[in-house]
Amino acid sequence: MDRPIRIALTKGRLEKDTVRLLESLGYDCTAVHEKGRRLILPIPDGNMEVVLAKAADVITYVEHGVCDMGVVGKDTLMEMNGKLFELVDLGFGRCKFALATKKDHPFYDGFGVKTIATKYPNVTRAFFERKGMDVDIVKIEGSVELAPLLGLADGIVDIVETGTTLKENGLAVVEDVAKISARLIVNTVSLKMRQQEIEALVRKVEEKINDPADQV
Ligand code: PRP
Repeated sequence: MDRPIRIALTKGRLEKDTVRLLESLGYDCTAVHEKGRRLILPIPDGNMEVVLAKAADVITYVEHGVCDMGVVGKDTLMEMNGKLFELVDLGFGRCKFALATKKDHPFYDGFGVKTIATKYPNVTRAFFERKGMDVDIVKIEGSVELAPLLGLADGIVDIVETGTTLKENGLAVVEDVAKISARLIVNTVSLKMRQQEIEALVRKVEEKINDPADQV
């Protein structure tokens, strides 16, 4: 038998919904629930195994073919622009990219070049290029909301889910940039070499997420 189909899952926010989806398809995810510090976890009966990784690494592993499939947010896919197939919008992990600034601050006023802080410089560059607007981009690794509060940036491009972080820090959305949700991705070679297994799994996933009576 071939090695198990290896699926890279994004640790953290998407993990619970992804495991719930796999369980709803009948896969035994006990090993994932009892993982401890283990990072590669078998799914018995499915000839599958799950790898837990950070979002950007999910894309890297799938792009390089060491994982056949992956579940990752559209945010990271937009930022990394990898060579892989994005097959299914899984519908969970919904949030958005937004441009935000200090509440009641007229972002577009004035003539100077604006400074934008973000974890997502490529997404930010593309957004302002579409507007034909020249901006300086500063890469921040986390808690991007700090940058305008500390006076480093005029605005941020970041993920907004509930809006609580913006609100509690006196910031507000100026404009939505893009909708985000979790996507099922597949390595291009795996899709050819293990087409039947992968297509069967993709079909099961699509049936599940499109069944209104059986939403995960
Ligand atoms: C994300 C994002 C915002 C926050 C938005 O950060 O960067 O800060 O969540 O969520 P909300 O709209 O529900 O408040 P995350 O928690 O991933 O931490 P980080 O910014 O430190 O990476």
